[in-house]
Amino acid sequence: MRGTVLLDWAFWMQETAFSLFMVENFWNVPIAQAIHILSIGAAFGSVLMVVLRVNGMAGAGLTFEQTAARFVPWVRWSLLVIVLSGLSMIMAEPVRNMINAVFWIKMIALIVMVLVSLSWIGSVRAAAQTAGAAYVGTSGAKSTGWVIMALWCLIIVCGRWIAYVPV
Ligand code: HEM
Repeated sequence: MRGTVLLDWAFWMQETAFSLFMVENFWNVPIAQAIHILSIGAAFGSVLMVVLRVNGMAGAGLTFEQTAARFVPWVRWSLLVIVLSGLSMIMAEPVRNMINAVFWIKMIALIVMVLVSLSWIGSVRAAAQTAGAAYVGTSGAKSTGWVIMALWCLIIVCGRWIAYVPV
């Protein structure tokens, strides 16, 4: 990816005040990494609880709406923090990230995961509305939930893998 415009962008990013701020203080990158990972933990755990509820494996006494009301805001806010901490890590090392194929595979997987999740939660909500606390997902809803968890795992693996790709 060295021959692409991404390298020019990375060089430009490297000169910005924010990029300089990120590298000047030793603690900035470890703090951003810790925030990134803690928010991933919060989001991953919350998505898992929703998937388990759809599969009838957790929150059996609750309606789907009650489970969603408890966990979905955690997913939304954690994702926002994940994006912000991720952006600050890109700014700390733009060249290493922008021309890294695994980084872009991770971004594509992230977009796919968000789109599948939005459409999944919409259809699950509609189906669960009439069923009340007895709601359990159809086999399609259950397996889509596990596909979403698998996409999260892929994104996590890619996130860690970025560091080992020679650029
Ligand atoms: C579901 C969303 C995401 C997950 C699960 C995820 C996961 C991870 C993981 C596990 C790491 C390794 C952290 C470490 O070992 O220190 C990482 C690093 C990183 N992530 Fe994410 N990430 C997500 C979203 C994002 C987003 C949206 C961005 C950028 C906009 C981003 C940018 C980065 C960067 C730049 C690194 C550092 C890579 C390196 O230089 O080694 N991530 N991510």
